[in-house]
Amino acid sequence: MTVRPELSPDTTQATIRATVLAVVAEHAGQEGPLLPILHAVQQRLGWLPPEAVVTLAQALHLSRAEVHGVVSYYPHFRLQPVLGAVVQVCRAESCLSRGSEALHAQAQAHAHDVGGCHVESVYCLGLCALSPAIAIDGQPHARLSSQRLAALLDRLVETPPSAPLASSQGASA
Ligand code: FES
Repeated sequence: MTVRPELSPDTTQATIRATVLAVVAEHAGQEGPLLPILHAVQQRLGWLPPEAVVTLAQALHLSRAEVHGVVSYYPHFRLQPVLGAVVQVCRAESCLSRGSEALHAQAQAHAHDVGGCHVESVYCLGLCALSPAIAIDGQPHARLSSQRLAALLDRLVETPPSAPLASSQGASA
């Protein structure tokens, strides 16, 4: 499981702000930076807390509504923290034709019954020739069978889940 250093119960508003500003600085001069910045912030924090949206809006001279509108439009962006590993199951055409629906159902059942992960649908991981494919905390796994998926998910349970990101406004944002 990928360990996100920023994910800890001690994560503060200041840490969130510093993370966002660092990402904004890395994208200085880039045209249309909002989406890549949102991706980078979510990758580092695990989700997009309200403080991140506020800080990003200020830094890019946008309204909070503009940033929130983009964040809430794309299902990829998380407005709530998730516990455990993020398991992304590809449900695009090539993977669908090779059984990804069953893998998705298997992963969801595991998340519900055992825990330790959060399951999301994605629509192409760029591994179509090696489908069906998934990613766990950004790490791709291709040519998956039900048995291989079960082994990967069992391994997650053996690792303690990441702590939720604490924010000054709580985890229900
Ligand atoms: S369709 Fe699943 S990786 Fe492209």
